[in-house]
Amino acid sequence: MSIKAEFVKSAVTLEQCPLADRPEYAFIGRSNVGKSSLINMLVNHKGLAKTSSSPGKTQTINYFNIEDAYYMVDLPGYGYAKVSQAQRKQWSAMIWNYLSERTSLMCVFILIDCRVPPQKSDIDFINQLGEAEIPCIVIFTKSDKLGKTTLVASVSSFKKSLSLYWDELPLMIISSAEKKLGREDVMQLIETSNKNFVKDVDASNLSNSKKNI
Ligand code: GTP
Ligand code: MG
Repeated sequence: MSIKAEFVKSAVTLEQCPLADRPEYAFIGRSNVGKSSLINMLVNHKGLAKTSSSPGKTQTINYFNIEDAYYMVDLPGYGYAKVSQAQRKQWSAMIWNYLSERTSLMCVFILIDCRVPPQKSDIDFINQLGEAEIPCIVIFTKSDKLGKTTLVASVSSFKKSLSLYWDELPLMIISSAEKKLGREDVMQLIETSNKNFVKDVDASNLSNSKKNI
């Protein structure tokens, strides 16, 4: 199966993002969790999104055109200690401005390393998405690194942590870029969600964001 997937551009501000004329899906999570690897696995293109074994590889909002029908958006990771405080603040402002203002954003996939116990930064991030009413789906990554029992325990521990804040939990998908696991589920969700995309017809439509900036 071949999917058309190509790099479009990198943006650091909302104004630099492409026209909001089609649905888009953002991939976010702590540094090194596997965001870029997951995108490559989903579209079957090794090396499309740049990956690295050292955290902090992705530093901009990266747009990928998929089948000329929608965008996948690779975001920089959060919670990376080696990045300066100033740089982290700058990324956080960039990411939140993008997440809260981008009209065509259908859903945020928030990636969680299944080997790591529930992290405050992840829970906080999901809570912030919830408060901003931005739809999100949790994807556990690197499941090839755990045995079944440990994996189940890890997922349930994460659910438990999130349950302290939410009655209704987001959808959760287990994935492995290595073993190409979770691909069908994610692609099916995107396909279904694409059908719900409503293209704005007024003038603000031609802007990239909710605010006509
Ligand atoms: P930043 O852009 O730095 O925030 O990282 P990222 O979240 O985009 O992670 P990236 O895709 O660059 O992957 C980080 C490391 O994890 C790389 O060494 C990948 O090979 C590895 N990795 C990613 N996904 C998987 C997976 O499913 N299984 C295994 N075993 N390794 C993975
Ligand atoms: Mg990356």
